[in-house]
Amino acid sequence: MATIISPSILSCDFANVQRDVEMINASEADWFHVDVMDGVFVPNISFGFPVIEAVKRHATKPLDVHLMIANPDQYVADFKKAGADILTVHFEACTHLHRTIQNIKAHGMLAGVALNPHTSIELLEDVIEDLDLVLIMSVNPGFGGQKFIQNAIYKVGQLANLIHRKGSKAKIEVDGGVNLETGALLVQAGANALVAGSFVFNSANPSETISQLKAL
Ligand code: DX5
Ligand code: ZN
Repeated sequence: MATIISPSILSCDFANVQRDVEMINASEADWFHVDVMDGVFVPNISFGFPVIEAVKRHATKPLDVHLMIANPDQYVADFKKAGADILTVHFEACTHLHRTIQNIKAHGMLAGVALNPHTSIELLEDVIEDLDLVLIMSVNPGFGGQKFIQNAIYKVGQLANLIHRKGSKAKIEVDGGVNLETGALLVQAGANALVAGSFVFNSANPSETISQLKAL
């Protein structure tokens, strides 16, 4: 199956959000990756509900919302209301992860869990069957434009084995430092979905760059 491409709007021009959303609508991208940072779980603040609602008003593709926030459970209903289709929480931010996953599903969204670079795949052993998506971080979350951490490729392989062994339907998505070179290695290792921010939006022709990633 073709790789799912989820351009991260963190790198878009926020003075021209509608223009950039329409570019993604018309491109070969599959999802909109929406990075929410709270300045507590990660050392940066991005944007919140008004921006997500504005993107949703123009987007014709699903919103793949990546929560880099403490206490995500508290806001599940609000993210649904703002337009999230896929809601991903960080393993490291959830004391009662199983409950949070069920809460996301009960609100009619697909449920994802993100793993920081130091968090082992093995820790998903007892929830993998409940997940629609696992987001492997290939940078430390908080900023776009960081250098890719090579160990993520190894983790994709480990996760593919776990998913196979448990008969899970979870998709493998990777986020951070994705370009044509790292993207090719990730797809080869078993990644189903790639997030790309700066590589898409800093390129001369973002739509063409999305097509190149899609062809990996
Ligand atoms: C990082 C975010 C990423 C970011 C990726 O904390 O989760 O989604 O936008 O940016 P690039 O593709 O520039 O590494
Ligand atoms: Zn992200």
